[in-house]
Amino acid sequence: MTRTVSLVLVGLGNLGRRFCELLMEKDAWLRQRYGLVLRLVGAADSRGAAYDPENGLDPASLARLKCSGGSVADYPGVGQPYCSALALVEMAEADMLLEASPVNLQQGAEPGLSCIRMALRRGMHVVTPNKGPLVLAYRELHGLAEAHGVALRFDGTVAGGLPALYLGQRDLRGAVIRRLDAVPNLVTGYVMDMLADGIGWEEALAAAREEGVLEADTSWDLDGWDAAAKLVILANAVLGCPARLEDVHRTGIGALDRDELLKARQRKCRYRLLATAQRVDQGDYALTVRPVALNEDHPFGRLGRKQMGVLFETDIYGTIVATIDEPDPVPSAATMLRDVLDIGLERGL
Ligand SMILES: NC(=O)c1ccc[n+]([C@@H]2O[C@H](COP(=O)([O-])OP(=O)(O)OC[C@H]3O[C@@H](n4cnc5c(N)ncnc54)[C@H](OP(=O)(O)O)[C@@H]3O)[C@@H](O)[C@H]2O)c1
Repeated sequence: MTRTVSLVLVGLGNLGRRFCELLMEKDAWLRQRYGLVLRLVGAADSRGAAYDPENGLDPASLARLKCSGGSVADYPGVGQPYCSALALVEMAEADMLLEASPVNLQQGAEPGLSCIRMALRRGMHVVTPNKGPLVLAYRELHGLAEAHGVALRFDGTVAGGLPALYLGQRDLRGAVIRRLDAVPNLVTGYVMDMLADGIGWEEALAAAREEGVLEADTSWDLDGWDAAAKLVILANAVLGCPARLEDVHRTGIGALDRDELLKARQRKCRYRLLATAQRVDQGDYALTVRPVALNEDHPFGRLGRKQMGVLFETDIYGTIVATIDEPDPVPSAATMLRDVLDIGLERGL
């Protein structure tokens, strides 16, 4: 016997489009292994929406549309050019919202925040890799989810495909986490490695842009905002600490002396932007983001340019380290599948 879980997807960029491809590739396996059919009934991008509760939307056609530069509004028969993501979430009958639009923190994390609020109020489970809404409204959104008896999962917000949140929340139950270290941002490691290779700032940034790892707003990555946002989510979700962005003592990589990077390389050290939560008195945590020279013996001292990591120092489970090699956005897109399956199986959908 199979059960069907109906999904609405907002945002079909790097992650959303790849999630469609995963739905297509994994369909038979998910039916066979878990008895689950994941059915996309609605989708929205910046130019419109498509909704078909009767027949569903074909993920392969959606992925093709997006690869060719089109919009879901062009979807044959059911595309709606002037329908916003929020209007879609407001009208759609579905079990879950998958929200994968840009972070947009300076615009109040919209449209993600409004879409997530709407979905939770309407009794839909929510999965999102979008940090913005969680950083701005972590407690509010969890309160809404609880009040409406639905799940809110956001595994992809912290370190791409690395299950840092699952590990911290579920597998360290009962422990006191004395210290958490994370290298949650790829771009800064990429740029610092290039500088240590003797390449100039402009060239390093151009290469990162070319690779597609640098955001249009370079300050988001280079000034440590992205790492700080991820640390805030880890602190709230794993450490039970109601942290906000302004609680993070943040130093970006912009002021780094290039000579120091070259010297660190000679000492066989590697600079990474380290996000740390250190337990202090009364169970509070001191939160910092700063570039640190790590020697080869450090668990993150050999992280490559496309690798991220998290380390938990605990009172009873020892020190646990997990790293991920993420050469492309597929693992990040797969976190949405992980969250969807987790909700589907846990809640018996
Ligand atoms: N890329 C990664 O490796 C990665 C990893 C972890 C987490 N994330 C997070 O996942 C989210 C998506 O990332 P991404 O790389 O897929 O972003 P992206 O490539 O920029 O795609 C964003 C998508 O959102 C759509 N969008 C923009 N404004 C919208 C609006 N007002 N209404 C509806 N849709 C709108 C865009 O529409 P158009 O297609 O029409 O432009 C696009 O489809 C972000 O929050 C990001 O921080 C990304």
